[in-house]
Amino acid sequence: MSLPSEAFAYADGVLTTSGVDLRAVAEAHGTPTWVYSGERVDAAYRSITEAMAQASGGSETLIAYAIKANGNQALLKRLAALGCGADIVSGGELLRALRAGIPAERIVYSGVGKSRAELRLALEKGIRAVHVESESELRLLGEVAADLGTTATIALRVNPNVDAETHPYIATGLHSTKFGLELDVAERLVPEIVGDDRFHLDGVSCHIGSQLGSVDPLREAVTLLAQFALQCRELGAPIRSLDVGGGWPLTYGNEKAPYPADAAFGAAIAEGLEAAGARDFDLITEPGRALVGDAGALLTSVLAIKDQGGKRFVILDGAMTELIRPSLYQAYHAIVPVVAPEGPTRETDLVGPVCESGDFFARSRPFPEVREGDLVAVLGAGAYGREMASSYNARPRAAEVLCEAGSASLVRRRGDVESLWAGED
Ligand code: LLP
Repeated sequence: MSLPSEAFAYADGVLTTSGVDLRAVAEAHGTPTWVYSGERVDAAYRSITEAMAQASGGSETLIAYAIKANGNQALLKRLAALGCGADIVSGGELLRALRAGIPAERIVYSGVGKSRAELRLALEKGIRAVHVESESELRLLGEVAADLGTTATIALRVNPNVDAETHPYIATGLHSTKFGLELDVAERLVPEIVGDDRFHLDGVSCHIGSQLGSVDPLREAVTLLAQFALQCRELGAPIRSLDVGGGWPLTYGNEKAPYPADAAFGAAIAEGLEAAGARDFDLITEPGRALVGDAGALLTSVLAIKDQGGKRFVILDGAMTELIRPSLYQAYHAIVPVVAPEGPTRETDLVGPVCESGDFFARSRPFPEVREGDLVAVLGAGAYGREMASSYNARPRAAEVLCEAGSASLVRRRGDVESLWAGED
């Protein structure tokens, strides 16, 4: 059975990752459990690093991992050790990144709404850049910098009005979305910022969206961004960095055509810079799912099977509370039994036990026969799984296990049910 994963494969008829038999993980830690491959995270990091080195033509590059994809401390520490930085979206994510050992000077802060307290924390910690996304935010940040008697290092996040041609929920580079500053607004703000010693305009950034199926919109956005950066320099801004955002894709398994390789993304960035005549900028990119998505699976057990209304339902102990992507975006995830299947498949709805008709992993999917107690893995689930988890229906959070070189370690304990009502009395 061929799987859309470089991390999970059958060995002697049993699904494994990093040399670990997933039956052993279930035996030791129960289900539902997140399972990650350490080596796969490293390989993804290396691949994007190489592509960015090609793109930069020798200037410095920073991979600022969008930790919203998966903020597990073990994964963050692993990436920090490789030299990775972070793209954060809240004060909570800032503390999470620092706790894992990601240095403040490798942290950039995107996000359309930042509170006074969050901006203060970012300045106190001395992060690399606050990505300003509105005029209101610029005013507030100026006040916070003045209060602290410090200079705020900023980048202007622009919205280049480029169509990323991706799912509408993950497209962020059009004016019809809430993200970034329109280019003409950003241009108008530059002289004001340059003349204000509360600010140091260090960079420009954009993020047009996730899952870029073509590198053309990226090339176009990079050109617009680089032209804007050059304009800022002409206006006297000491622009050092160009942050080209995320969008590095993850193969989920239902694609009609393969995604471009990382090297093609690197080449498109280089071409975009070239078209603008931009050289000697440091480059930042913000991959999220491409670093951790393929490395993770949700390991679940079959609770029950029933045939109803002409359909087969396989009811798993994992649910939308662990992985909401199918329910929220009709997202596709490959799903496989842990013991390699034999025999025919039949159309099956793979669902969870949560009290919602929308609680499903797959509908009308050809799936082999399984029995109560069998283990099933949902692949491509390392990103936006545990981060978007909820405790709906009083379900404690799932355990997380990191596998590497044939051994598995628990990197987050299963949640206690009692913690669900902690602080309520
Ligand atoms: N940079 C910025 C400013 C972002 O907003 C995002 C994602 C990224 C980078 C990383 O994008 P990635 O490389 O992971 O595609 N929950 C949705 C995804 C929301 C993405 C939000 N922003 C999902 O499960 O598909």
